[in-house]
Amino acid sequence: MDLIEKRIDKTLFSEQAIHARTDELGMMIAHDYSQGGLACDPYGRAPLLVCVLHGALVFMADLIRRIPIEIEHDFICVSSYGNGTSPGAVGLIKDLERPLQGRDVLIVEDIIDTGHTIDYLQRGFAARNPASLRVCTLIDKVVRRETSVKIDYTGFLLEEDAFIVGYGMDYAELYRNLPYIGVLKDEHIR
Ligand code: PRP
Repeated sequence: MDLIEKRIDKTLFSEQAIHARTDELGMMIAHDYSQGGLACDPYGRAPLLVCVLHGALVFMADLIRRIPIEIEHDFICVSSYGNGTSPGAVGLIKDLERPLQGRDVLIVEDIIDTGHTIDYLQRGFAARNPASLRVCTLIDKVVRRETSVKIDYTGFLLEEDAFIVGYGMDYAELYRNLPYIGVLKDEHIR
């Protein structure tokens, strides 16, 4: 089998750049959610980080190890079913295991593209009455946005309309294990 990195045309965000930025994000999040910070949970519980499967898994695993305060985590899995008749439609595949009532919730995404997924999650989570609800994404692909989304923590802005893979992001479920983010060579896109 070919090494997957031979299928990459160019690197957009290297392992080193991702790790350096994740360190910064972890410190920002720790600062904001520390005692006396922006956390609102009336019982003072640790913030609950929600990983949006599957793309955010790799980023989540690195990010939580760079947040040096108490945190809890949970997972949700959604899928976009958008088509010609219902563009941007998102469906729930696997729900959270914990209630959000009164919690300080931070959604962790690998990428926000059109914004439909995060819009769906924010609306659904807001209805569960968290104490606060914020969003952290590694990549903000601003050029493709179709909804208005407030992002609290952004790793990198992606201002070109490149189809990217790696560090959790896939093409046809492959390349999630590439340790950096790059653009696939055209010949490997079917
Ligand atoms: C990706 C990504 C986000 C979503 C963003 O997930 O992880 O959840 O797309 O796109 P949007 O802003 O246009 O809604 P995807 O549906 O590809 O599934 P995956 O996480 O399993 O790769």
